[in-house]
Amino acid sequence: MPNTVSSNPNYPNITISDILYDRALQVQKPVTQTLAKGPGQFTNGVAPKYLQKGKGSHVWDVDGNEYIDFNSAIGPISLGYAYKAVDDAIKKQLEDGITFSLMHPLEVELSELIQEVIPNAEAVKISKTGADVCSAAIRVARAFTKREKIFCCGYHGWHDWYIGITSRNSGIPESIQNMTYTFEYNNIEAIREALDETVAAVILEPFIFEAPQNNFLQELVEACRENGTLLIFDEMWTGFRIALGGAQEYFNVKSDLAVYSKACANGMPIALLTGRADVMELFNNEVFSYTTFGGEALSLAACIATIQEIRDKNVPEYLDKKGQILKDGYNHIAEEFGLENLTKCVGYNCRTMVIFAPEAGNGLEVKALMQQEMIKRGVLWAGFHNMCFSHTDEDIEHTLSAYREVMPIVKAAIESQDVKSYLQGQALEAVFRKTSNYNIKPALVKA
Ligand SMILES: Cc1ncc(COP(=O)(O)O)c(C=O)c1O
Repeated sequence: MPNTVSSNPNYPNITISDILYDRALQVQKPVTQTLAKGPGQFTNGVAPKYLQKGKGSHVWDVDGNEYIDFNSAIGPISLGYAYKAVDDAIKKQLEDGITFSLMHPLEVELSELIQEVIPNAEAVKISKTGADVCSAAIRVARAFTKREKIFCCGYHGWHDWYIGITSRNSGIPESIQNMTYTFEYNNIEAIREALDETVAAVILEPFIFEAPQNNFLQELVEACRENGTLLIFDEMWTGFRIALGGAQEYFNVKSDLAVYSKACANGMPIALLTGRADVMELFNNEVFSYTTFGGEALSLAACIATIQEIRDKNVPEYLDKKGQILKDGYNHIAEEFGLENLTKCVGYNCRTMVIFAPEAGNGLEVKALMQQEMIKRGVLWAGFHNMCFSHTDEDIEHTLSAYREVMPIVKAAIESQDVKSYLQGQALEAVFRKTSNYNIKPALVKA
């Protein structure tokens, strides 16, 4: 698709977005169903609030403004919006029906495909959301080990066992809050020291932006095995992006259980739990985890088509190549403007993040300014490059020229020590203010 982003010579007109938002405030609590898509993450006053449609890597807001989208729907868009091979599979299934009164053959077909591509998939469980499968993994790990404590690192969805450790823990019984503990990525010594006979599972995103050091993941496998604790990889972001078989394939390491969603169905709601047959066996009797829409067939069809396309077109290699051009490009531009100590693009190429050093000032203001200026240049920017198969060379060139124009503005704002005065809208909001129970030996009472 040729790059036609030229529609925002000034800040985009967001009239209809704001009208919808005002209506939403009257009726919806909360107004957004995904925090990362809400106005706290897209500078209120400048950024669009509602998107109407997408094609490839581009999206159009309700006011008709076009943007290159590097958020990829916060992960699910791995191939591109309105991607033909997946949409055809959905349409074909739609003619036969959506949800049925018995099991559907696509459940078997998908599970066999997952067994082929995911290293630890001795058995497969299908569900709907990332939080679903994270919680199912935690429950089955507790049942298998007959232990209760959980160590985690990263984000794992909205359910009690995880959100209890964040600042948004209202409504979660304290007894549940006290069962989950966070640990520091790459600090194997601290984990080894904290592991004891009460820890059912260690769950982590195999990497977020930082790379594993000193065989961290392999060491973790060993530490968990020695302690009789199950290791769970949360591959929501790594699955089907870093490699077809996710981080397990990329780092040649197997976890006892692993969970997937986001990229696997190019936007349709489905989630997968894979793992050891002896552990997964408990789902057949002792452990309960079922949901009405678990076998919904449009998502099954989409998931199969997406995984086949990712495999056939070697999508992870594409994401890596294009993502690297963007990451290196950003870092060169930062250097050109003498900002290399204040901002960097970091992470594995398939999903990179722009960060600002504390010396740049209030991070949420600086990020809002960069977002404001990128949006003006037709890039729906939220600090991440979540690469998808439809991001073209033209998209990347356009984005890098936008960065080249925006960098001096950001530099001047930082130097003025008054970034706020450059903002047309509001500063962004932090998602969580803190997580608690940090690296505390589980036997101890919470401080
Ligand atoms: C690593 C990780 N785990 C779990 C989840 C929860 O997934 P969902 O929002 O589909 O419930 C997310 C969502 O962003 C995630 O990024």
